[in-house]
Amino acid sequence: MDVKEQLTEGDINRSNARLQWYKTLRNQTVLDLLERDENSFVHQALSTPCLQVLESCEGIYIYDISGKRYMDFHGNNVHQIGYRNPFVIEQVKKQLDILPFSPRRYTNSPSIQLAEKLTNLLPVGLNRVLFAPGGTSAIGIALKLARVVTGKHKVISLWDSFHGASMDAIAVGGEEQFKTGLGPLFPGVFHIDPPVNYRNTNSNFDDIHYANQLEIEIEQSNGEVGAFIIETIRNTDVQIPSKAYWKRVREICSKHQVLLILDEIPIAFGRTGKMFAFEHYGIEPDIICLGKGLGAGIIPIAAMVAREEYNIAADISLGHYTHEKSPLGAIAALAMLEFIETTNLLEKVREDELFVREQLHLLELKHQWIGDIRGIGLMWAIELVKDRESKEKAVLEAEKVMYYCLDLGLSFKVSQGNVLQLCPPLIITRPQLMDAFKILDNALHSLNEHIA
Ligand SMILES: Cc1ncc(COP(=O)(O)O)c(C=O)c1O
Repeated sequence: MDVKEQLTEGDINRSNARLQWYKTLRNQTVLDLLERDENSFVHQALSTPCLQVLESCEGIYIYDISGKRYMDFHGNNVHQIGYRNPFVIEQVKKQLDILPFSPRRYTNSPSIQLAEKLTNLLPVGLNRVLFAPGGTSAIGIALKLARVVTGKHKVISLWDSFHGASMDAIAVGGEEQFKTGLGPLFPGVFHIDPPVNYRNTNSNFDDIHYANQLEIEIEQSNGEVGAFIIETIRNTDVQIPSKAYWKRVREICSKHQVLLILDEIPIAFGRTGKMFAFEHYGIEPDIICLGKGLGAGIIPIAAMVAREEYNIAADISLGHYTHEKSPLGAIAALAMLEFIETTNLLEKVREDELFVREQLHLLELKHQWIGDIRGIGLMWAIELVKDRESKEKAVLEAEKVMYYCLDLGLSFKVSQGNVLQLCPPLIITRPQLMDAFKILDNALHSLNEHIA
């Protein structure tokens, strides 16, 4: 695979731009630790070798051990309410002194409260919960439950989708890079095209034909499809389907008794300006998977929430995880939800959306490199192209912009090779947003200088 192809997954850790980045690192302690990291961990894509060594984090910032700070517009989607949120830290510290762990077969008050809180926030009927130590495990539980409920083993998902890195999750996922050399995977998975919405951020975009593919695929499976798993809005490159798409998908799933499993692991809890992204669409899932920001960027915790009538697997272990009912995770999640509610964070995000849209459109007017801007809430994608007509992806340029921004203290991910994905903490202020856009502006200018 050539470098350009590999870059479609984001920055790779052996590209020329990465090697250039290492040359800018002068602090010997950083270099020593990076080397020890490389010597200790199994090397893998998008991980070791690492970019930098972190020492601390606070609010919207991560700090490396040489004291440099970066606005974190990636944060693996755990940082909705900012890093080391003082309200959450206080609650977690208290819980550490009371009950940090709860062995299986016992329950605890924070876990019960969290299950009740989530089901109260979700639509009526979605009221059976299982917690897990990570999003991938919640996906695994959902897939098992769908088999039990429907008696059908086949699953449909989208090309290019990611639902976690375990064997079951990569089997349903649609990204080839995660599967290469790892087969055979579990059978009966079919992929359909994602509703990709290039240069069209309004809800009139005609993506119904993408939904219709779902029905065709279900009908061809002789009634063996039990579940359709999909992100409500695709996180990696911010693909926002229309209301009509979602209405049609919901109709098709109900008509064919196919469970609709929504993966909102990276995008729930305010990222889109609503507590859950499906609330934008007037539809309800049969099962929803949550995670990442659920633990407030402090404790790993994820959840699967399903309809009451699916509580029929009492004799099977659907999610037999050691840290299943983590009191610490539950306390962090409860505090995170309370913080969102008491600070009216969802309203702030909806106002920020308008501001960001305006600012990014100004950037688009200035820079021919920008082929598209899409976003909702505080989840944005800037697509870089070599030419607006042909839409040819500006892959190496996107990587350059990423490292330029990193150098100036702005961290984000590139996906699909040319999409700058911007997910700041939801607590970000307007001046901080402006600082980030200034850095982006400079980075895009620097591409022209390079050409000249
Ligand atoms: C859409 C989606 N689903 C599932 C997962 C897996 O979550 P985790 O890494 O917590 O296992 C991720 C992680 O990036 C994700 O983005």
